[in-house]
Amino acid sequence: MNASHGNEPITYTAHAHAKVNVHLGVAEPREDGFHELVTVFQSLSLHDTVTLTDLGNAEVDKPRVQYLKVSGPHEAGVPEDDTNLAWTAVDRIMQHLYVTRGGIKIPEVGLEIHKAIPTAGGMAGGSADAAAALRLAERCYGRYYGIDSVGDHILDALGAALGSDVPFTLLGGTALGTGRGEQLTSMMTRGTYHWALIASDRGLSTPSVFRKLDELRDAGRASAPALDTTEISQALISGDAQRVAAHLHNDLQPAALSLRPDLRKTLEAGMDAGALNGIVSGSGPTCAFLCASQEDAEEIAAQVSIEIPGTKGVVAQGPAAGAEVL
Ligand code: C5P
Repeated sequence: MNASHGNEPITYTAHAHAKVNVHLGVAEPREDGFHELVTVFQSLSLHDTVTLTDLGNAEVDKPRVQYLKVSGPHEAGVPEDDTNLAWTAVDRIMQHLYVTRGGIKIPEVGLEIHKAIPTAGGMAGGSADAAAALRLAERCYGRYYGIDSVGDHILDALGAALGSDVPFTLLGGTALGTGRGEQLTSMMTRGTYHWALIASDRGLSTPSVFRKLDELRDAGRASAPALDTTEISQALISGDAQRVAAHLHNDLQPAALSLRPDLRKTLEAGMDAGALNGIVSGSGPTCAFLCASQEDAEEIAAQVSIEIPGTKGVVAQGPAAGAEVL
């Protein structure tokens, strides 16, 4: 909630939603090192909460973020300095406004992130925090510049410069992503999908998973890129979770399993517990199980996390919103 009490600091709060890739097709690496993707994103109800506090004391030419505090069940390892993408996001909005509209007296701000999304888990948690921070900084600084918005295309461009998943975490819903995942087309879908998400205590580095896929392909040990999304698109339109489950696909999964063979046990445990289907989420190591109902998802999340040491289970529904200021 946004609140202003006399001279007290004004706070702005946003939800930063996680995502799962219901289809992730990865083509060859490009010259810039990124891989061309054909992916279908779905945003999830699971979200971090990002709060930006306008500290007043408007000065020009001072650092704009005074502090970043991280809390919550997945706070471990999240940076509390300018290496955090959310901090950079605030700086980028500031720079954009300064360059396009000139320097005016604007306030210093503080950031707080409550982490409910597993870190380094393939669920775009850091990207979602950055997307939320973009919207929060736009709202806070926009007041001083007398504008409501910097424009969706500017926000998308600033987001894409921060990370490939940031534009989707701004948009939310269900979307086809191409390019490096930043070129988006919203997709029509029916129904609500119930997910059991099994996070691992140990994260996986995204670049290392992409590199491993290239290695496996060079050695003839991974299949050709799955770049056709016709079947998953039709399944999502049907609203039939079983049909969607049958078409879940992730080209990065063999690479994630090669780096983390223990994830096979997690995938098996989810299927044994009654999931419709399960995949590694994005670059992993979180495993995402599509379930027939909310009750099934709760039971599967509980059962798998008890059975597999070093894991935590949580449930989520999709599709959900993009980053939104409350
Ligand atoms: O865009 P982002 O910073 O999230 O990407 C992290 C890393 O993941 C990249 O540096 C690259 O190694 C890999 N990546 C990729 N192709 C993509 C997206 C990410 O190779 N489409």
